[in-house]
Amino acid sequence: MLDIQRSLAQPILTPAVTRREDYRPPAWLVPTVDLAFELDPAETRVRATLAVTRNGLHAEPLRLDGAGQRPVSVKVDGTAIDDWQLDGETLVIPLAGTAHMIETEVAIHPERNTQLMGLYASSGILCTQCEAEGFRRITFFPDRPDVLSTYRVRMSADRARFPVLLANGDPVASGGEEDGRHWAEWHDPFPKPSYLFALVAGDLAANRGTFTTVSGREVQLGIWVRESDLARTDHALHALKLAMAWDEQVYGREYDLDVFNIVAVEDFNFGAMENKGLNIFNSRYILADPDTATDYDYDAIAAVVAHEYFHNWSGNRVTCRDWFQLSLKEGFTVYRDQCFSADQGSAAVKRIEDVRGLRAGQFPEDAGPLAHPVRPESYQEISNFYTATIYNKGAELIRMMATMLGAQAFRAATDLYFQRFDGTAATCEDFVACMEEAGGVDLAQFRLWYSQAGTPRLAVAVDHEAGGGRATVKLAQSVAATPGQPDKSPMLLPLKLKLFGAETGRPLTDERLVLFGDGVGSVTFEAITERPVLSINRGFSAPIVIESDRTAADLAFLSRHDDDPFGRYEAMQQLMLDTLVAGAVEGRADHQAVVAAVSATLSDPALDPAFVAEAVLLPSESFVGDQLAMIDPEAIFRAREALRRELGRALDAQWRAAYDGARAFYAYTPAAKGLRRLRNVALGYTAASGAGDAAKLAFTQFEAADNMTDRQAALGTLANGDDRPFGEERVAALDIFYNRYAGNGLVLDKWFQTQALSTRADTGAAVAELVRHPDFTLANPNRARSLIGAFGVNQRAFHTADGSGYRFLADQLIALDQLNPQTAAKLLPPLGRWRRVDAGRAGLMRAELERIVATAGLSKDLFEQASKSLG
Ligand code: TRP
Ligand code: ZN
Repeated sequence: MLDIQRSLAQPILTPAVTRREDYRPPAWLVPTVDLAFELDPAETRVRATLAVTRNGLHAEPLRLDGAGQRPVSVKVDGTAIDDWQLDGETLVIPLAGTAHMIETEVAIHPERNTQLMGLYASSGILCTQCEAEGFRRITFFPDRPDVLSTYRVRMSADRARFPVLLANGDPVASGGEEDGRHWAEWHDPFPKPSYLFALVAGDLAANRGTFTTVSGREVQLGIWVRESDLARTDHALHALKLAMAWDEQVYGREYDLDVFNIVAVEDFNFGAMENKGLNIFNSRYILADPDTATDYDYDAIAAVVAHEYFHNWSGNRVTCRDWFQLSLKEGFTVYRDQCFSADQGSAAVKRIEDVRGLRAGQFPEDAGPLAHPVRPESYQEISNFYTATIYNKGAELIRMMATMLGAQAFRAATDLYFQRFDGTAATCEDFVACMEEAGGVDLAQFRLWYSQAGTPRLAVAVDHEAGGGRATVKLAQSVAATPGQPDKSPMLLPLKLKLFGAETGRPLTDERLVLFGDGVGSVTFEAITERPVLSINRGFSAPIVIESDRTAADLAFLSRHDDDPFGRYEAMQQLMLDTLVAGAVEGRADHQAVVAAVSATLSDPALDPAFVAEAVLLPSESFVGDQLAMIDPEAIFRAREALRRELGRALDAQWRAAYDGARAFYAYTPAAKGLRRLRNVALGYTAASGAGDAAKLAFTQFEAADNMTDRQAALGTLANGDDRPFGEERVAALDIFYNRYAGNGLVLDKWFQTQALSTRADTGAAVAELVRHPDFTLANPNRARSLIGAFGVNQRAFHTADGSGYRFLADQLIALDQLNPQTAAKLLPPLGRWRRVDAGRAGLMRAELERIVATAGLSKDLFEQASKSLG
């Protein structure tokens, strides 16, 4: 089978590779740009006038990136020329002098743009997405982030269909035209790279607000949506104001234009985009009300609104020199939005959520065929590098520097960075140099975090001299080989550690910050009077894996006595993980230590319910799998279900007490959120116990819920349920949910996703059926992700031994690639985990990857991901 597939494979031209070491400054600069759009969904005319200046002494022609268009006309200094050429997609214009005016005109077709890059139509709204290389799909331009220009934009459109015309910067003028058209002109005074260009035209209404900056300027805020969605925009507007105030207080960053607009659209490849003064959002990160959005959605909206707003400084005022520096803006901005969210509620719970996300998304990337450094060395398609490594590991790098510098020096260093690089395109190295300079630290070894891929592992053992003597913490660091990087050097790890007395439960030391940069070494503590239990990597001070010699009893002890909430969570997770790994490998495990620790956590009245809810959750199946060289997905599933059932049964009374005790009136406050979370976790355990009344309990909650958090949690519990005893309630709830929310796309996404994530044995068949549902379409990225993306991460369903899950995913990706290569490529990574499963499954997965690679007309997005996954 494998060989047949291989021999059928067509030879494919490998796409060109872009390398970091090949960076050269641009040959021509473009200080100003004038754009005139005659907007029409079918065909839009774009006239661009570029003032270009030769950058340095050279004889290079002007090269403007394009994306397959042919210019309708090209003028130099007002005169039409015909000695231009197309070199592939690049427009080459010979120029004699040092400064010229270049005019081009092109025709583009927004309605036919299914890639959602460049200018496209989404439910009757015309909008743009230019990062990373979408601007070249709009007009010919040096489409690279180190060419900064000031933009003047004129749009004209049919007044009835497109009454609102928005672009970057401030509105300058507007007026009427003949034939029912009108126009508007916008000017952005801040030089920016082309990837930050944006325009929107549509029939939109605004939720308006104002924000007065610290220096007293009033900024007009607008959240633009379809009229019928206006009622769901208050939370986003509120979050925006909080973010604006937070950036002033915490980083001294003030907003710089008179208007700040956000537009929500339904079809969007990512979460949102930070275009200067005109952020464009996936509607899922704007629209919320209690009936349609969960607490998780509310939190994510605030985080993404803040993230995009923070980019105004970390990304826009200071941008990236080239795309290898992407983490300069993304890692830093994620760190900033994480700290913002931590300040809105429980910082401990936020840290737990962020670490869980890192382990779910980034650690597997670092351990697989697509591993790459935070500052990559090469790419075929830059869109494939908007990854958890760039974003989330990148944020951990910033966090480690902040830890090493301390709050005050870190602020001094970011002040220096913003001041020194304002209005320029900078590098990761520039940022680190500011940290070093203002922080007075040596980050020479720390820089390896930018260049070496892979998650460091730290083996830890504690020796204690009996009779009140010295305790020695022995450390050994290793970093596994990753593609293209066979040998690694030890990294600098900022480790927060502390010792607790095994007998008294009391702290034996203060927290110590150790900068460990060796392969092997140790840390000593003197006068330790009782057997110490080690709390290490507190607060997850370094994004690494700890392998310690701590026993189940030590971990259970820390889960009760550590004074770092993250440490308590972590000890419990490790205890659960050890138990689940034993269960998966040996087919059975001793559940007692976990049961006792969970019971103690549930009954500790001093703990925040939100924390309790996180602490008692079992690690995911995929995280359990990450601990094993070879994964048996069914065995992991069974081990996890067995422990869930045991926890459910043994602690039945406690779960029910927690469930009843955590009732709250609906409010979006940290306290009420925590109660809802605990209540729904308790419901899950009660269902897992197999209790006869569980289906009824879940269904009653489903029907009585006055908010989506409770409704969706109940639906999820029912959707996982087996036919006996859940059959009737499961089917009924799915139907009721569907009918109640028909026409609400974001909630229908939840309906698809809940079914795709179900742990039932027939999920593969159900998902194959759902692809044919009238509401399913690959053309909308949210919908595609909610079904196909969710299925790919469903360990049990995706890895069925007959390979039908693999074949299904490959079929869908090949179809999606025709429409939207970026989104298809994002959903491929589950197929790349073939090294971790048995030979039978591995062969089936590789066959699907080879089939994808051999598909005629494949995008370079999907080609790069699939071919690298074959590794
Ligand atoms: N820069 C954006 C952010 O992280 C996201 C982004 C990158 C994006 N590439 C995109 C959004 C392509 C849509 C499409 O905030
Ligand atoms: Zn970002």
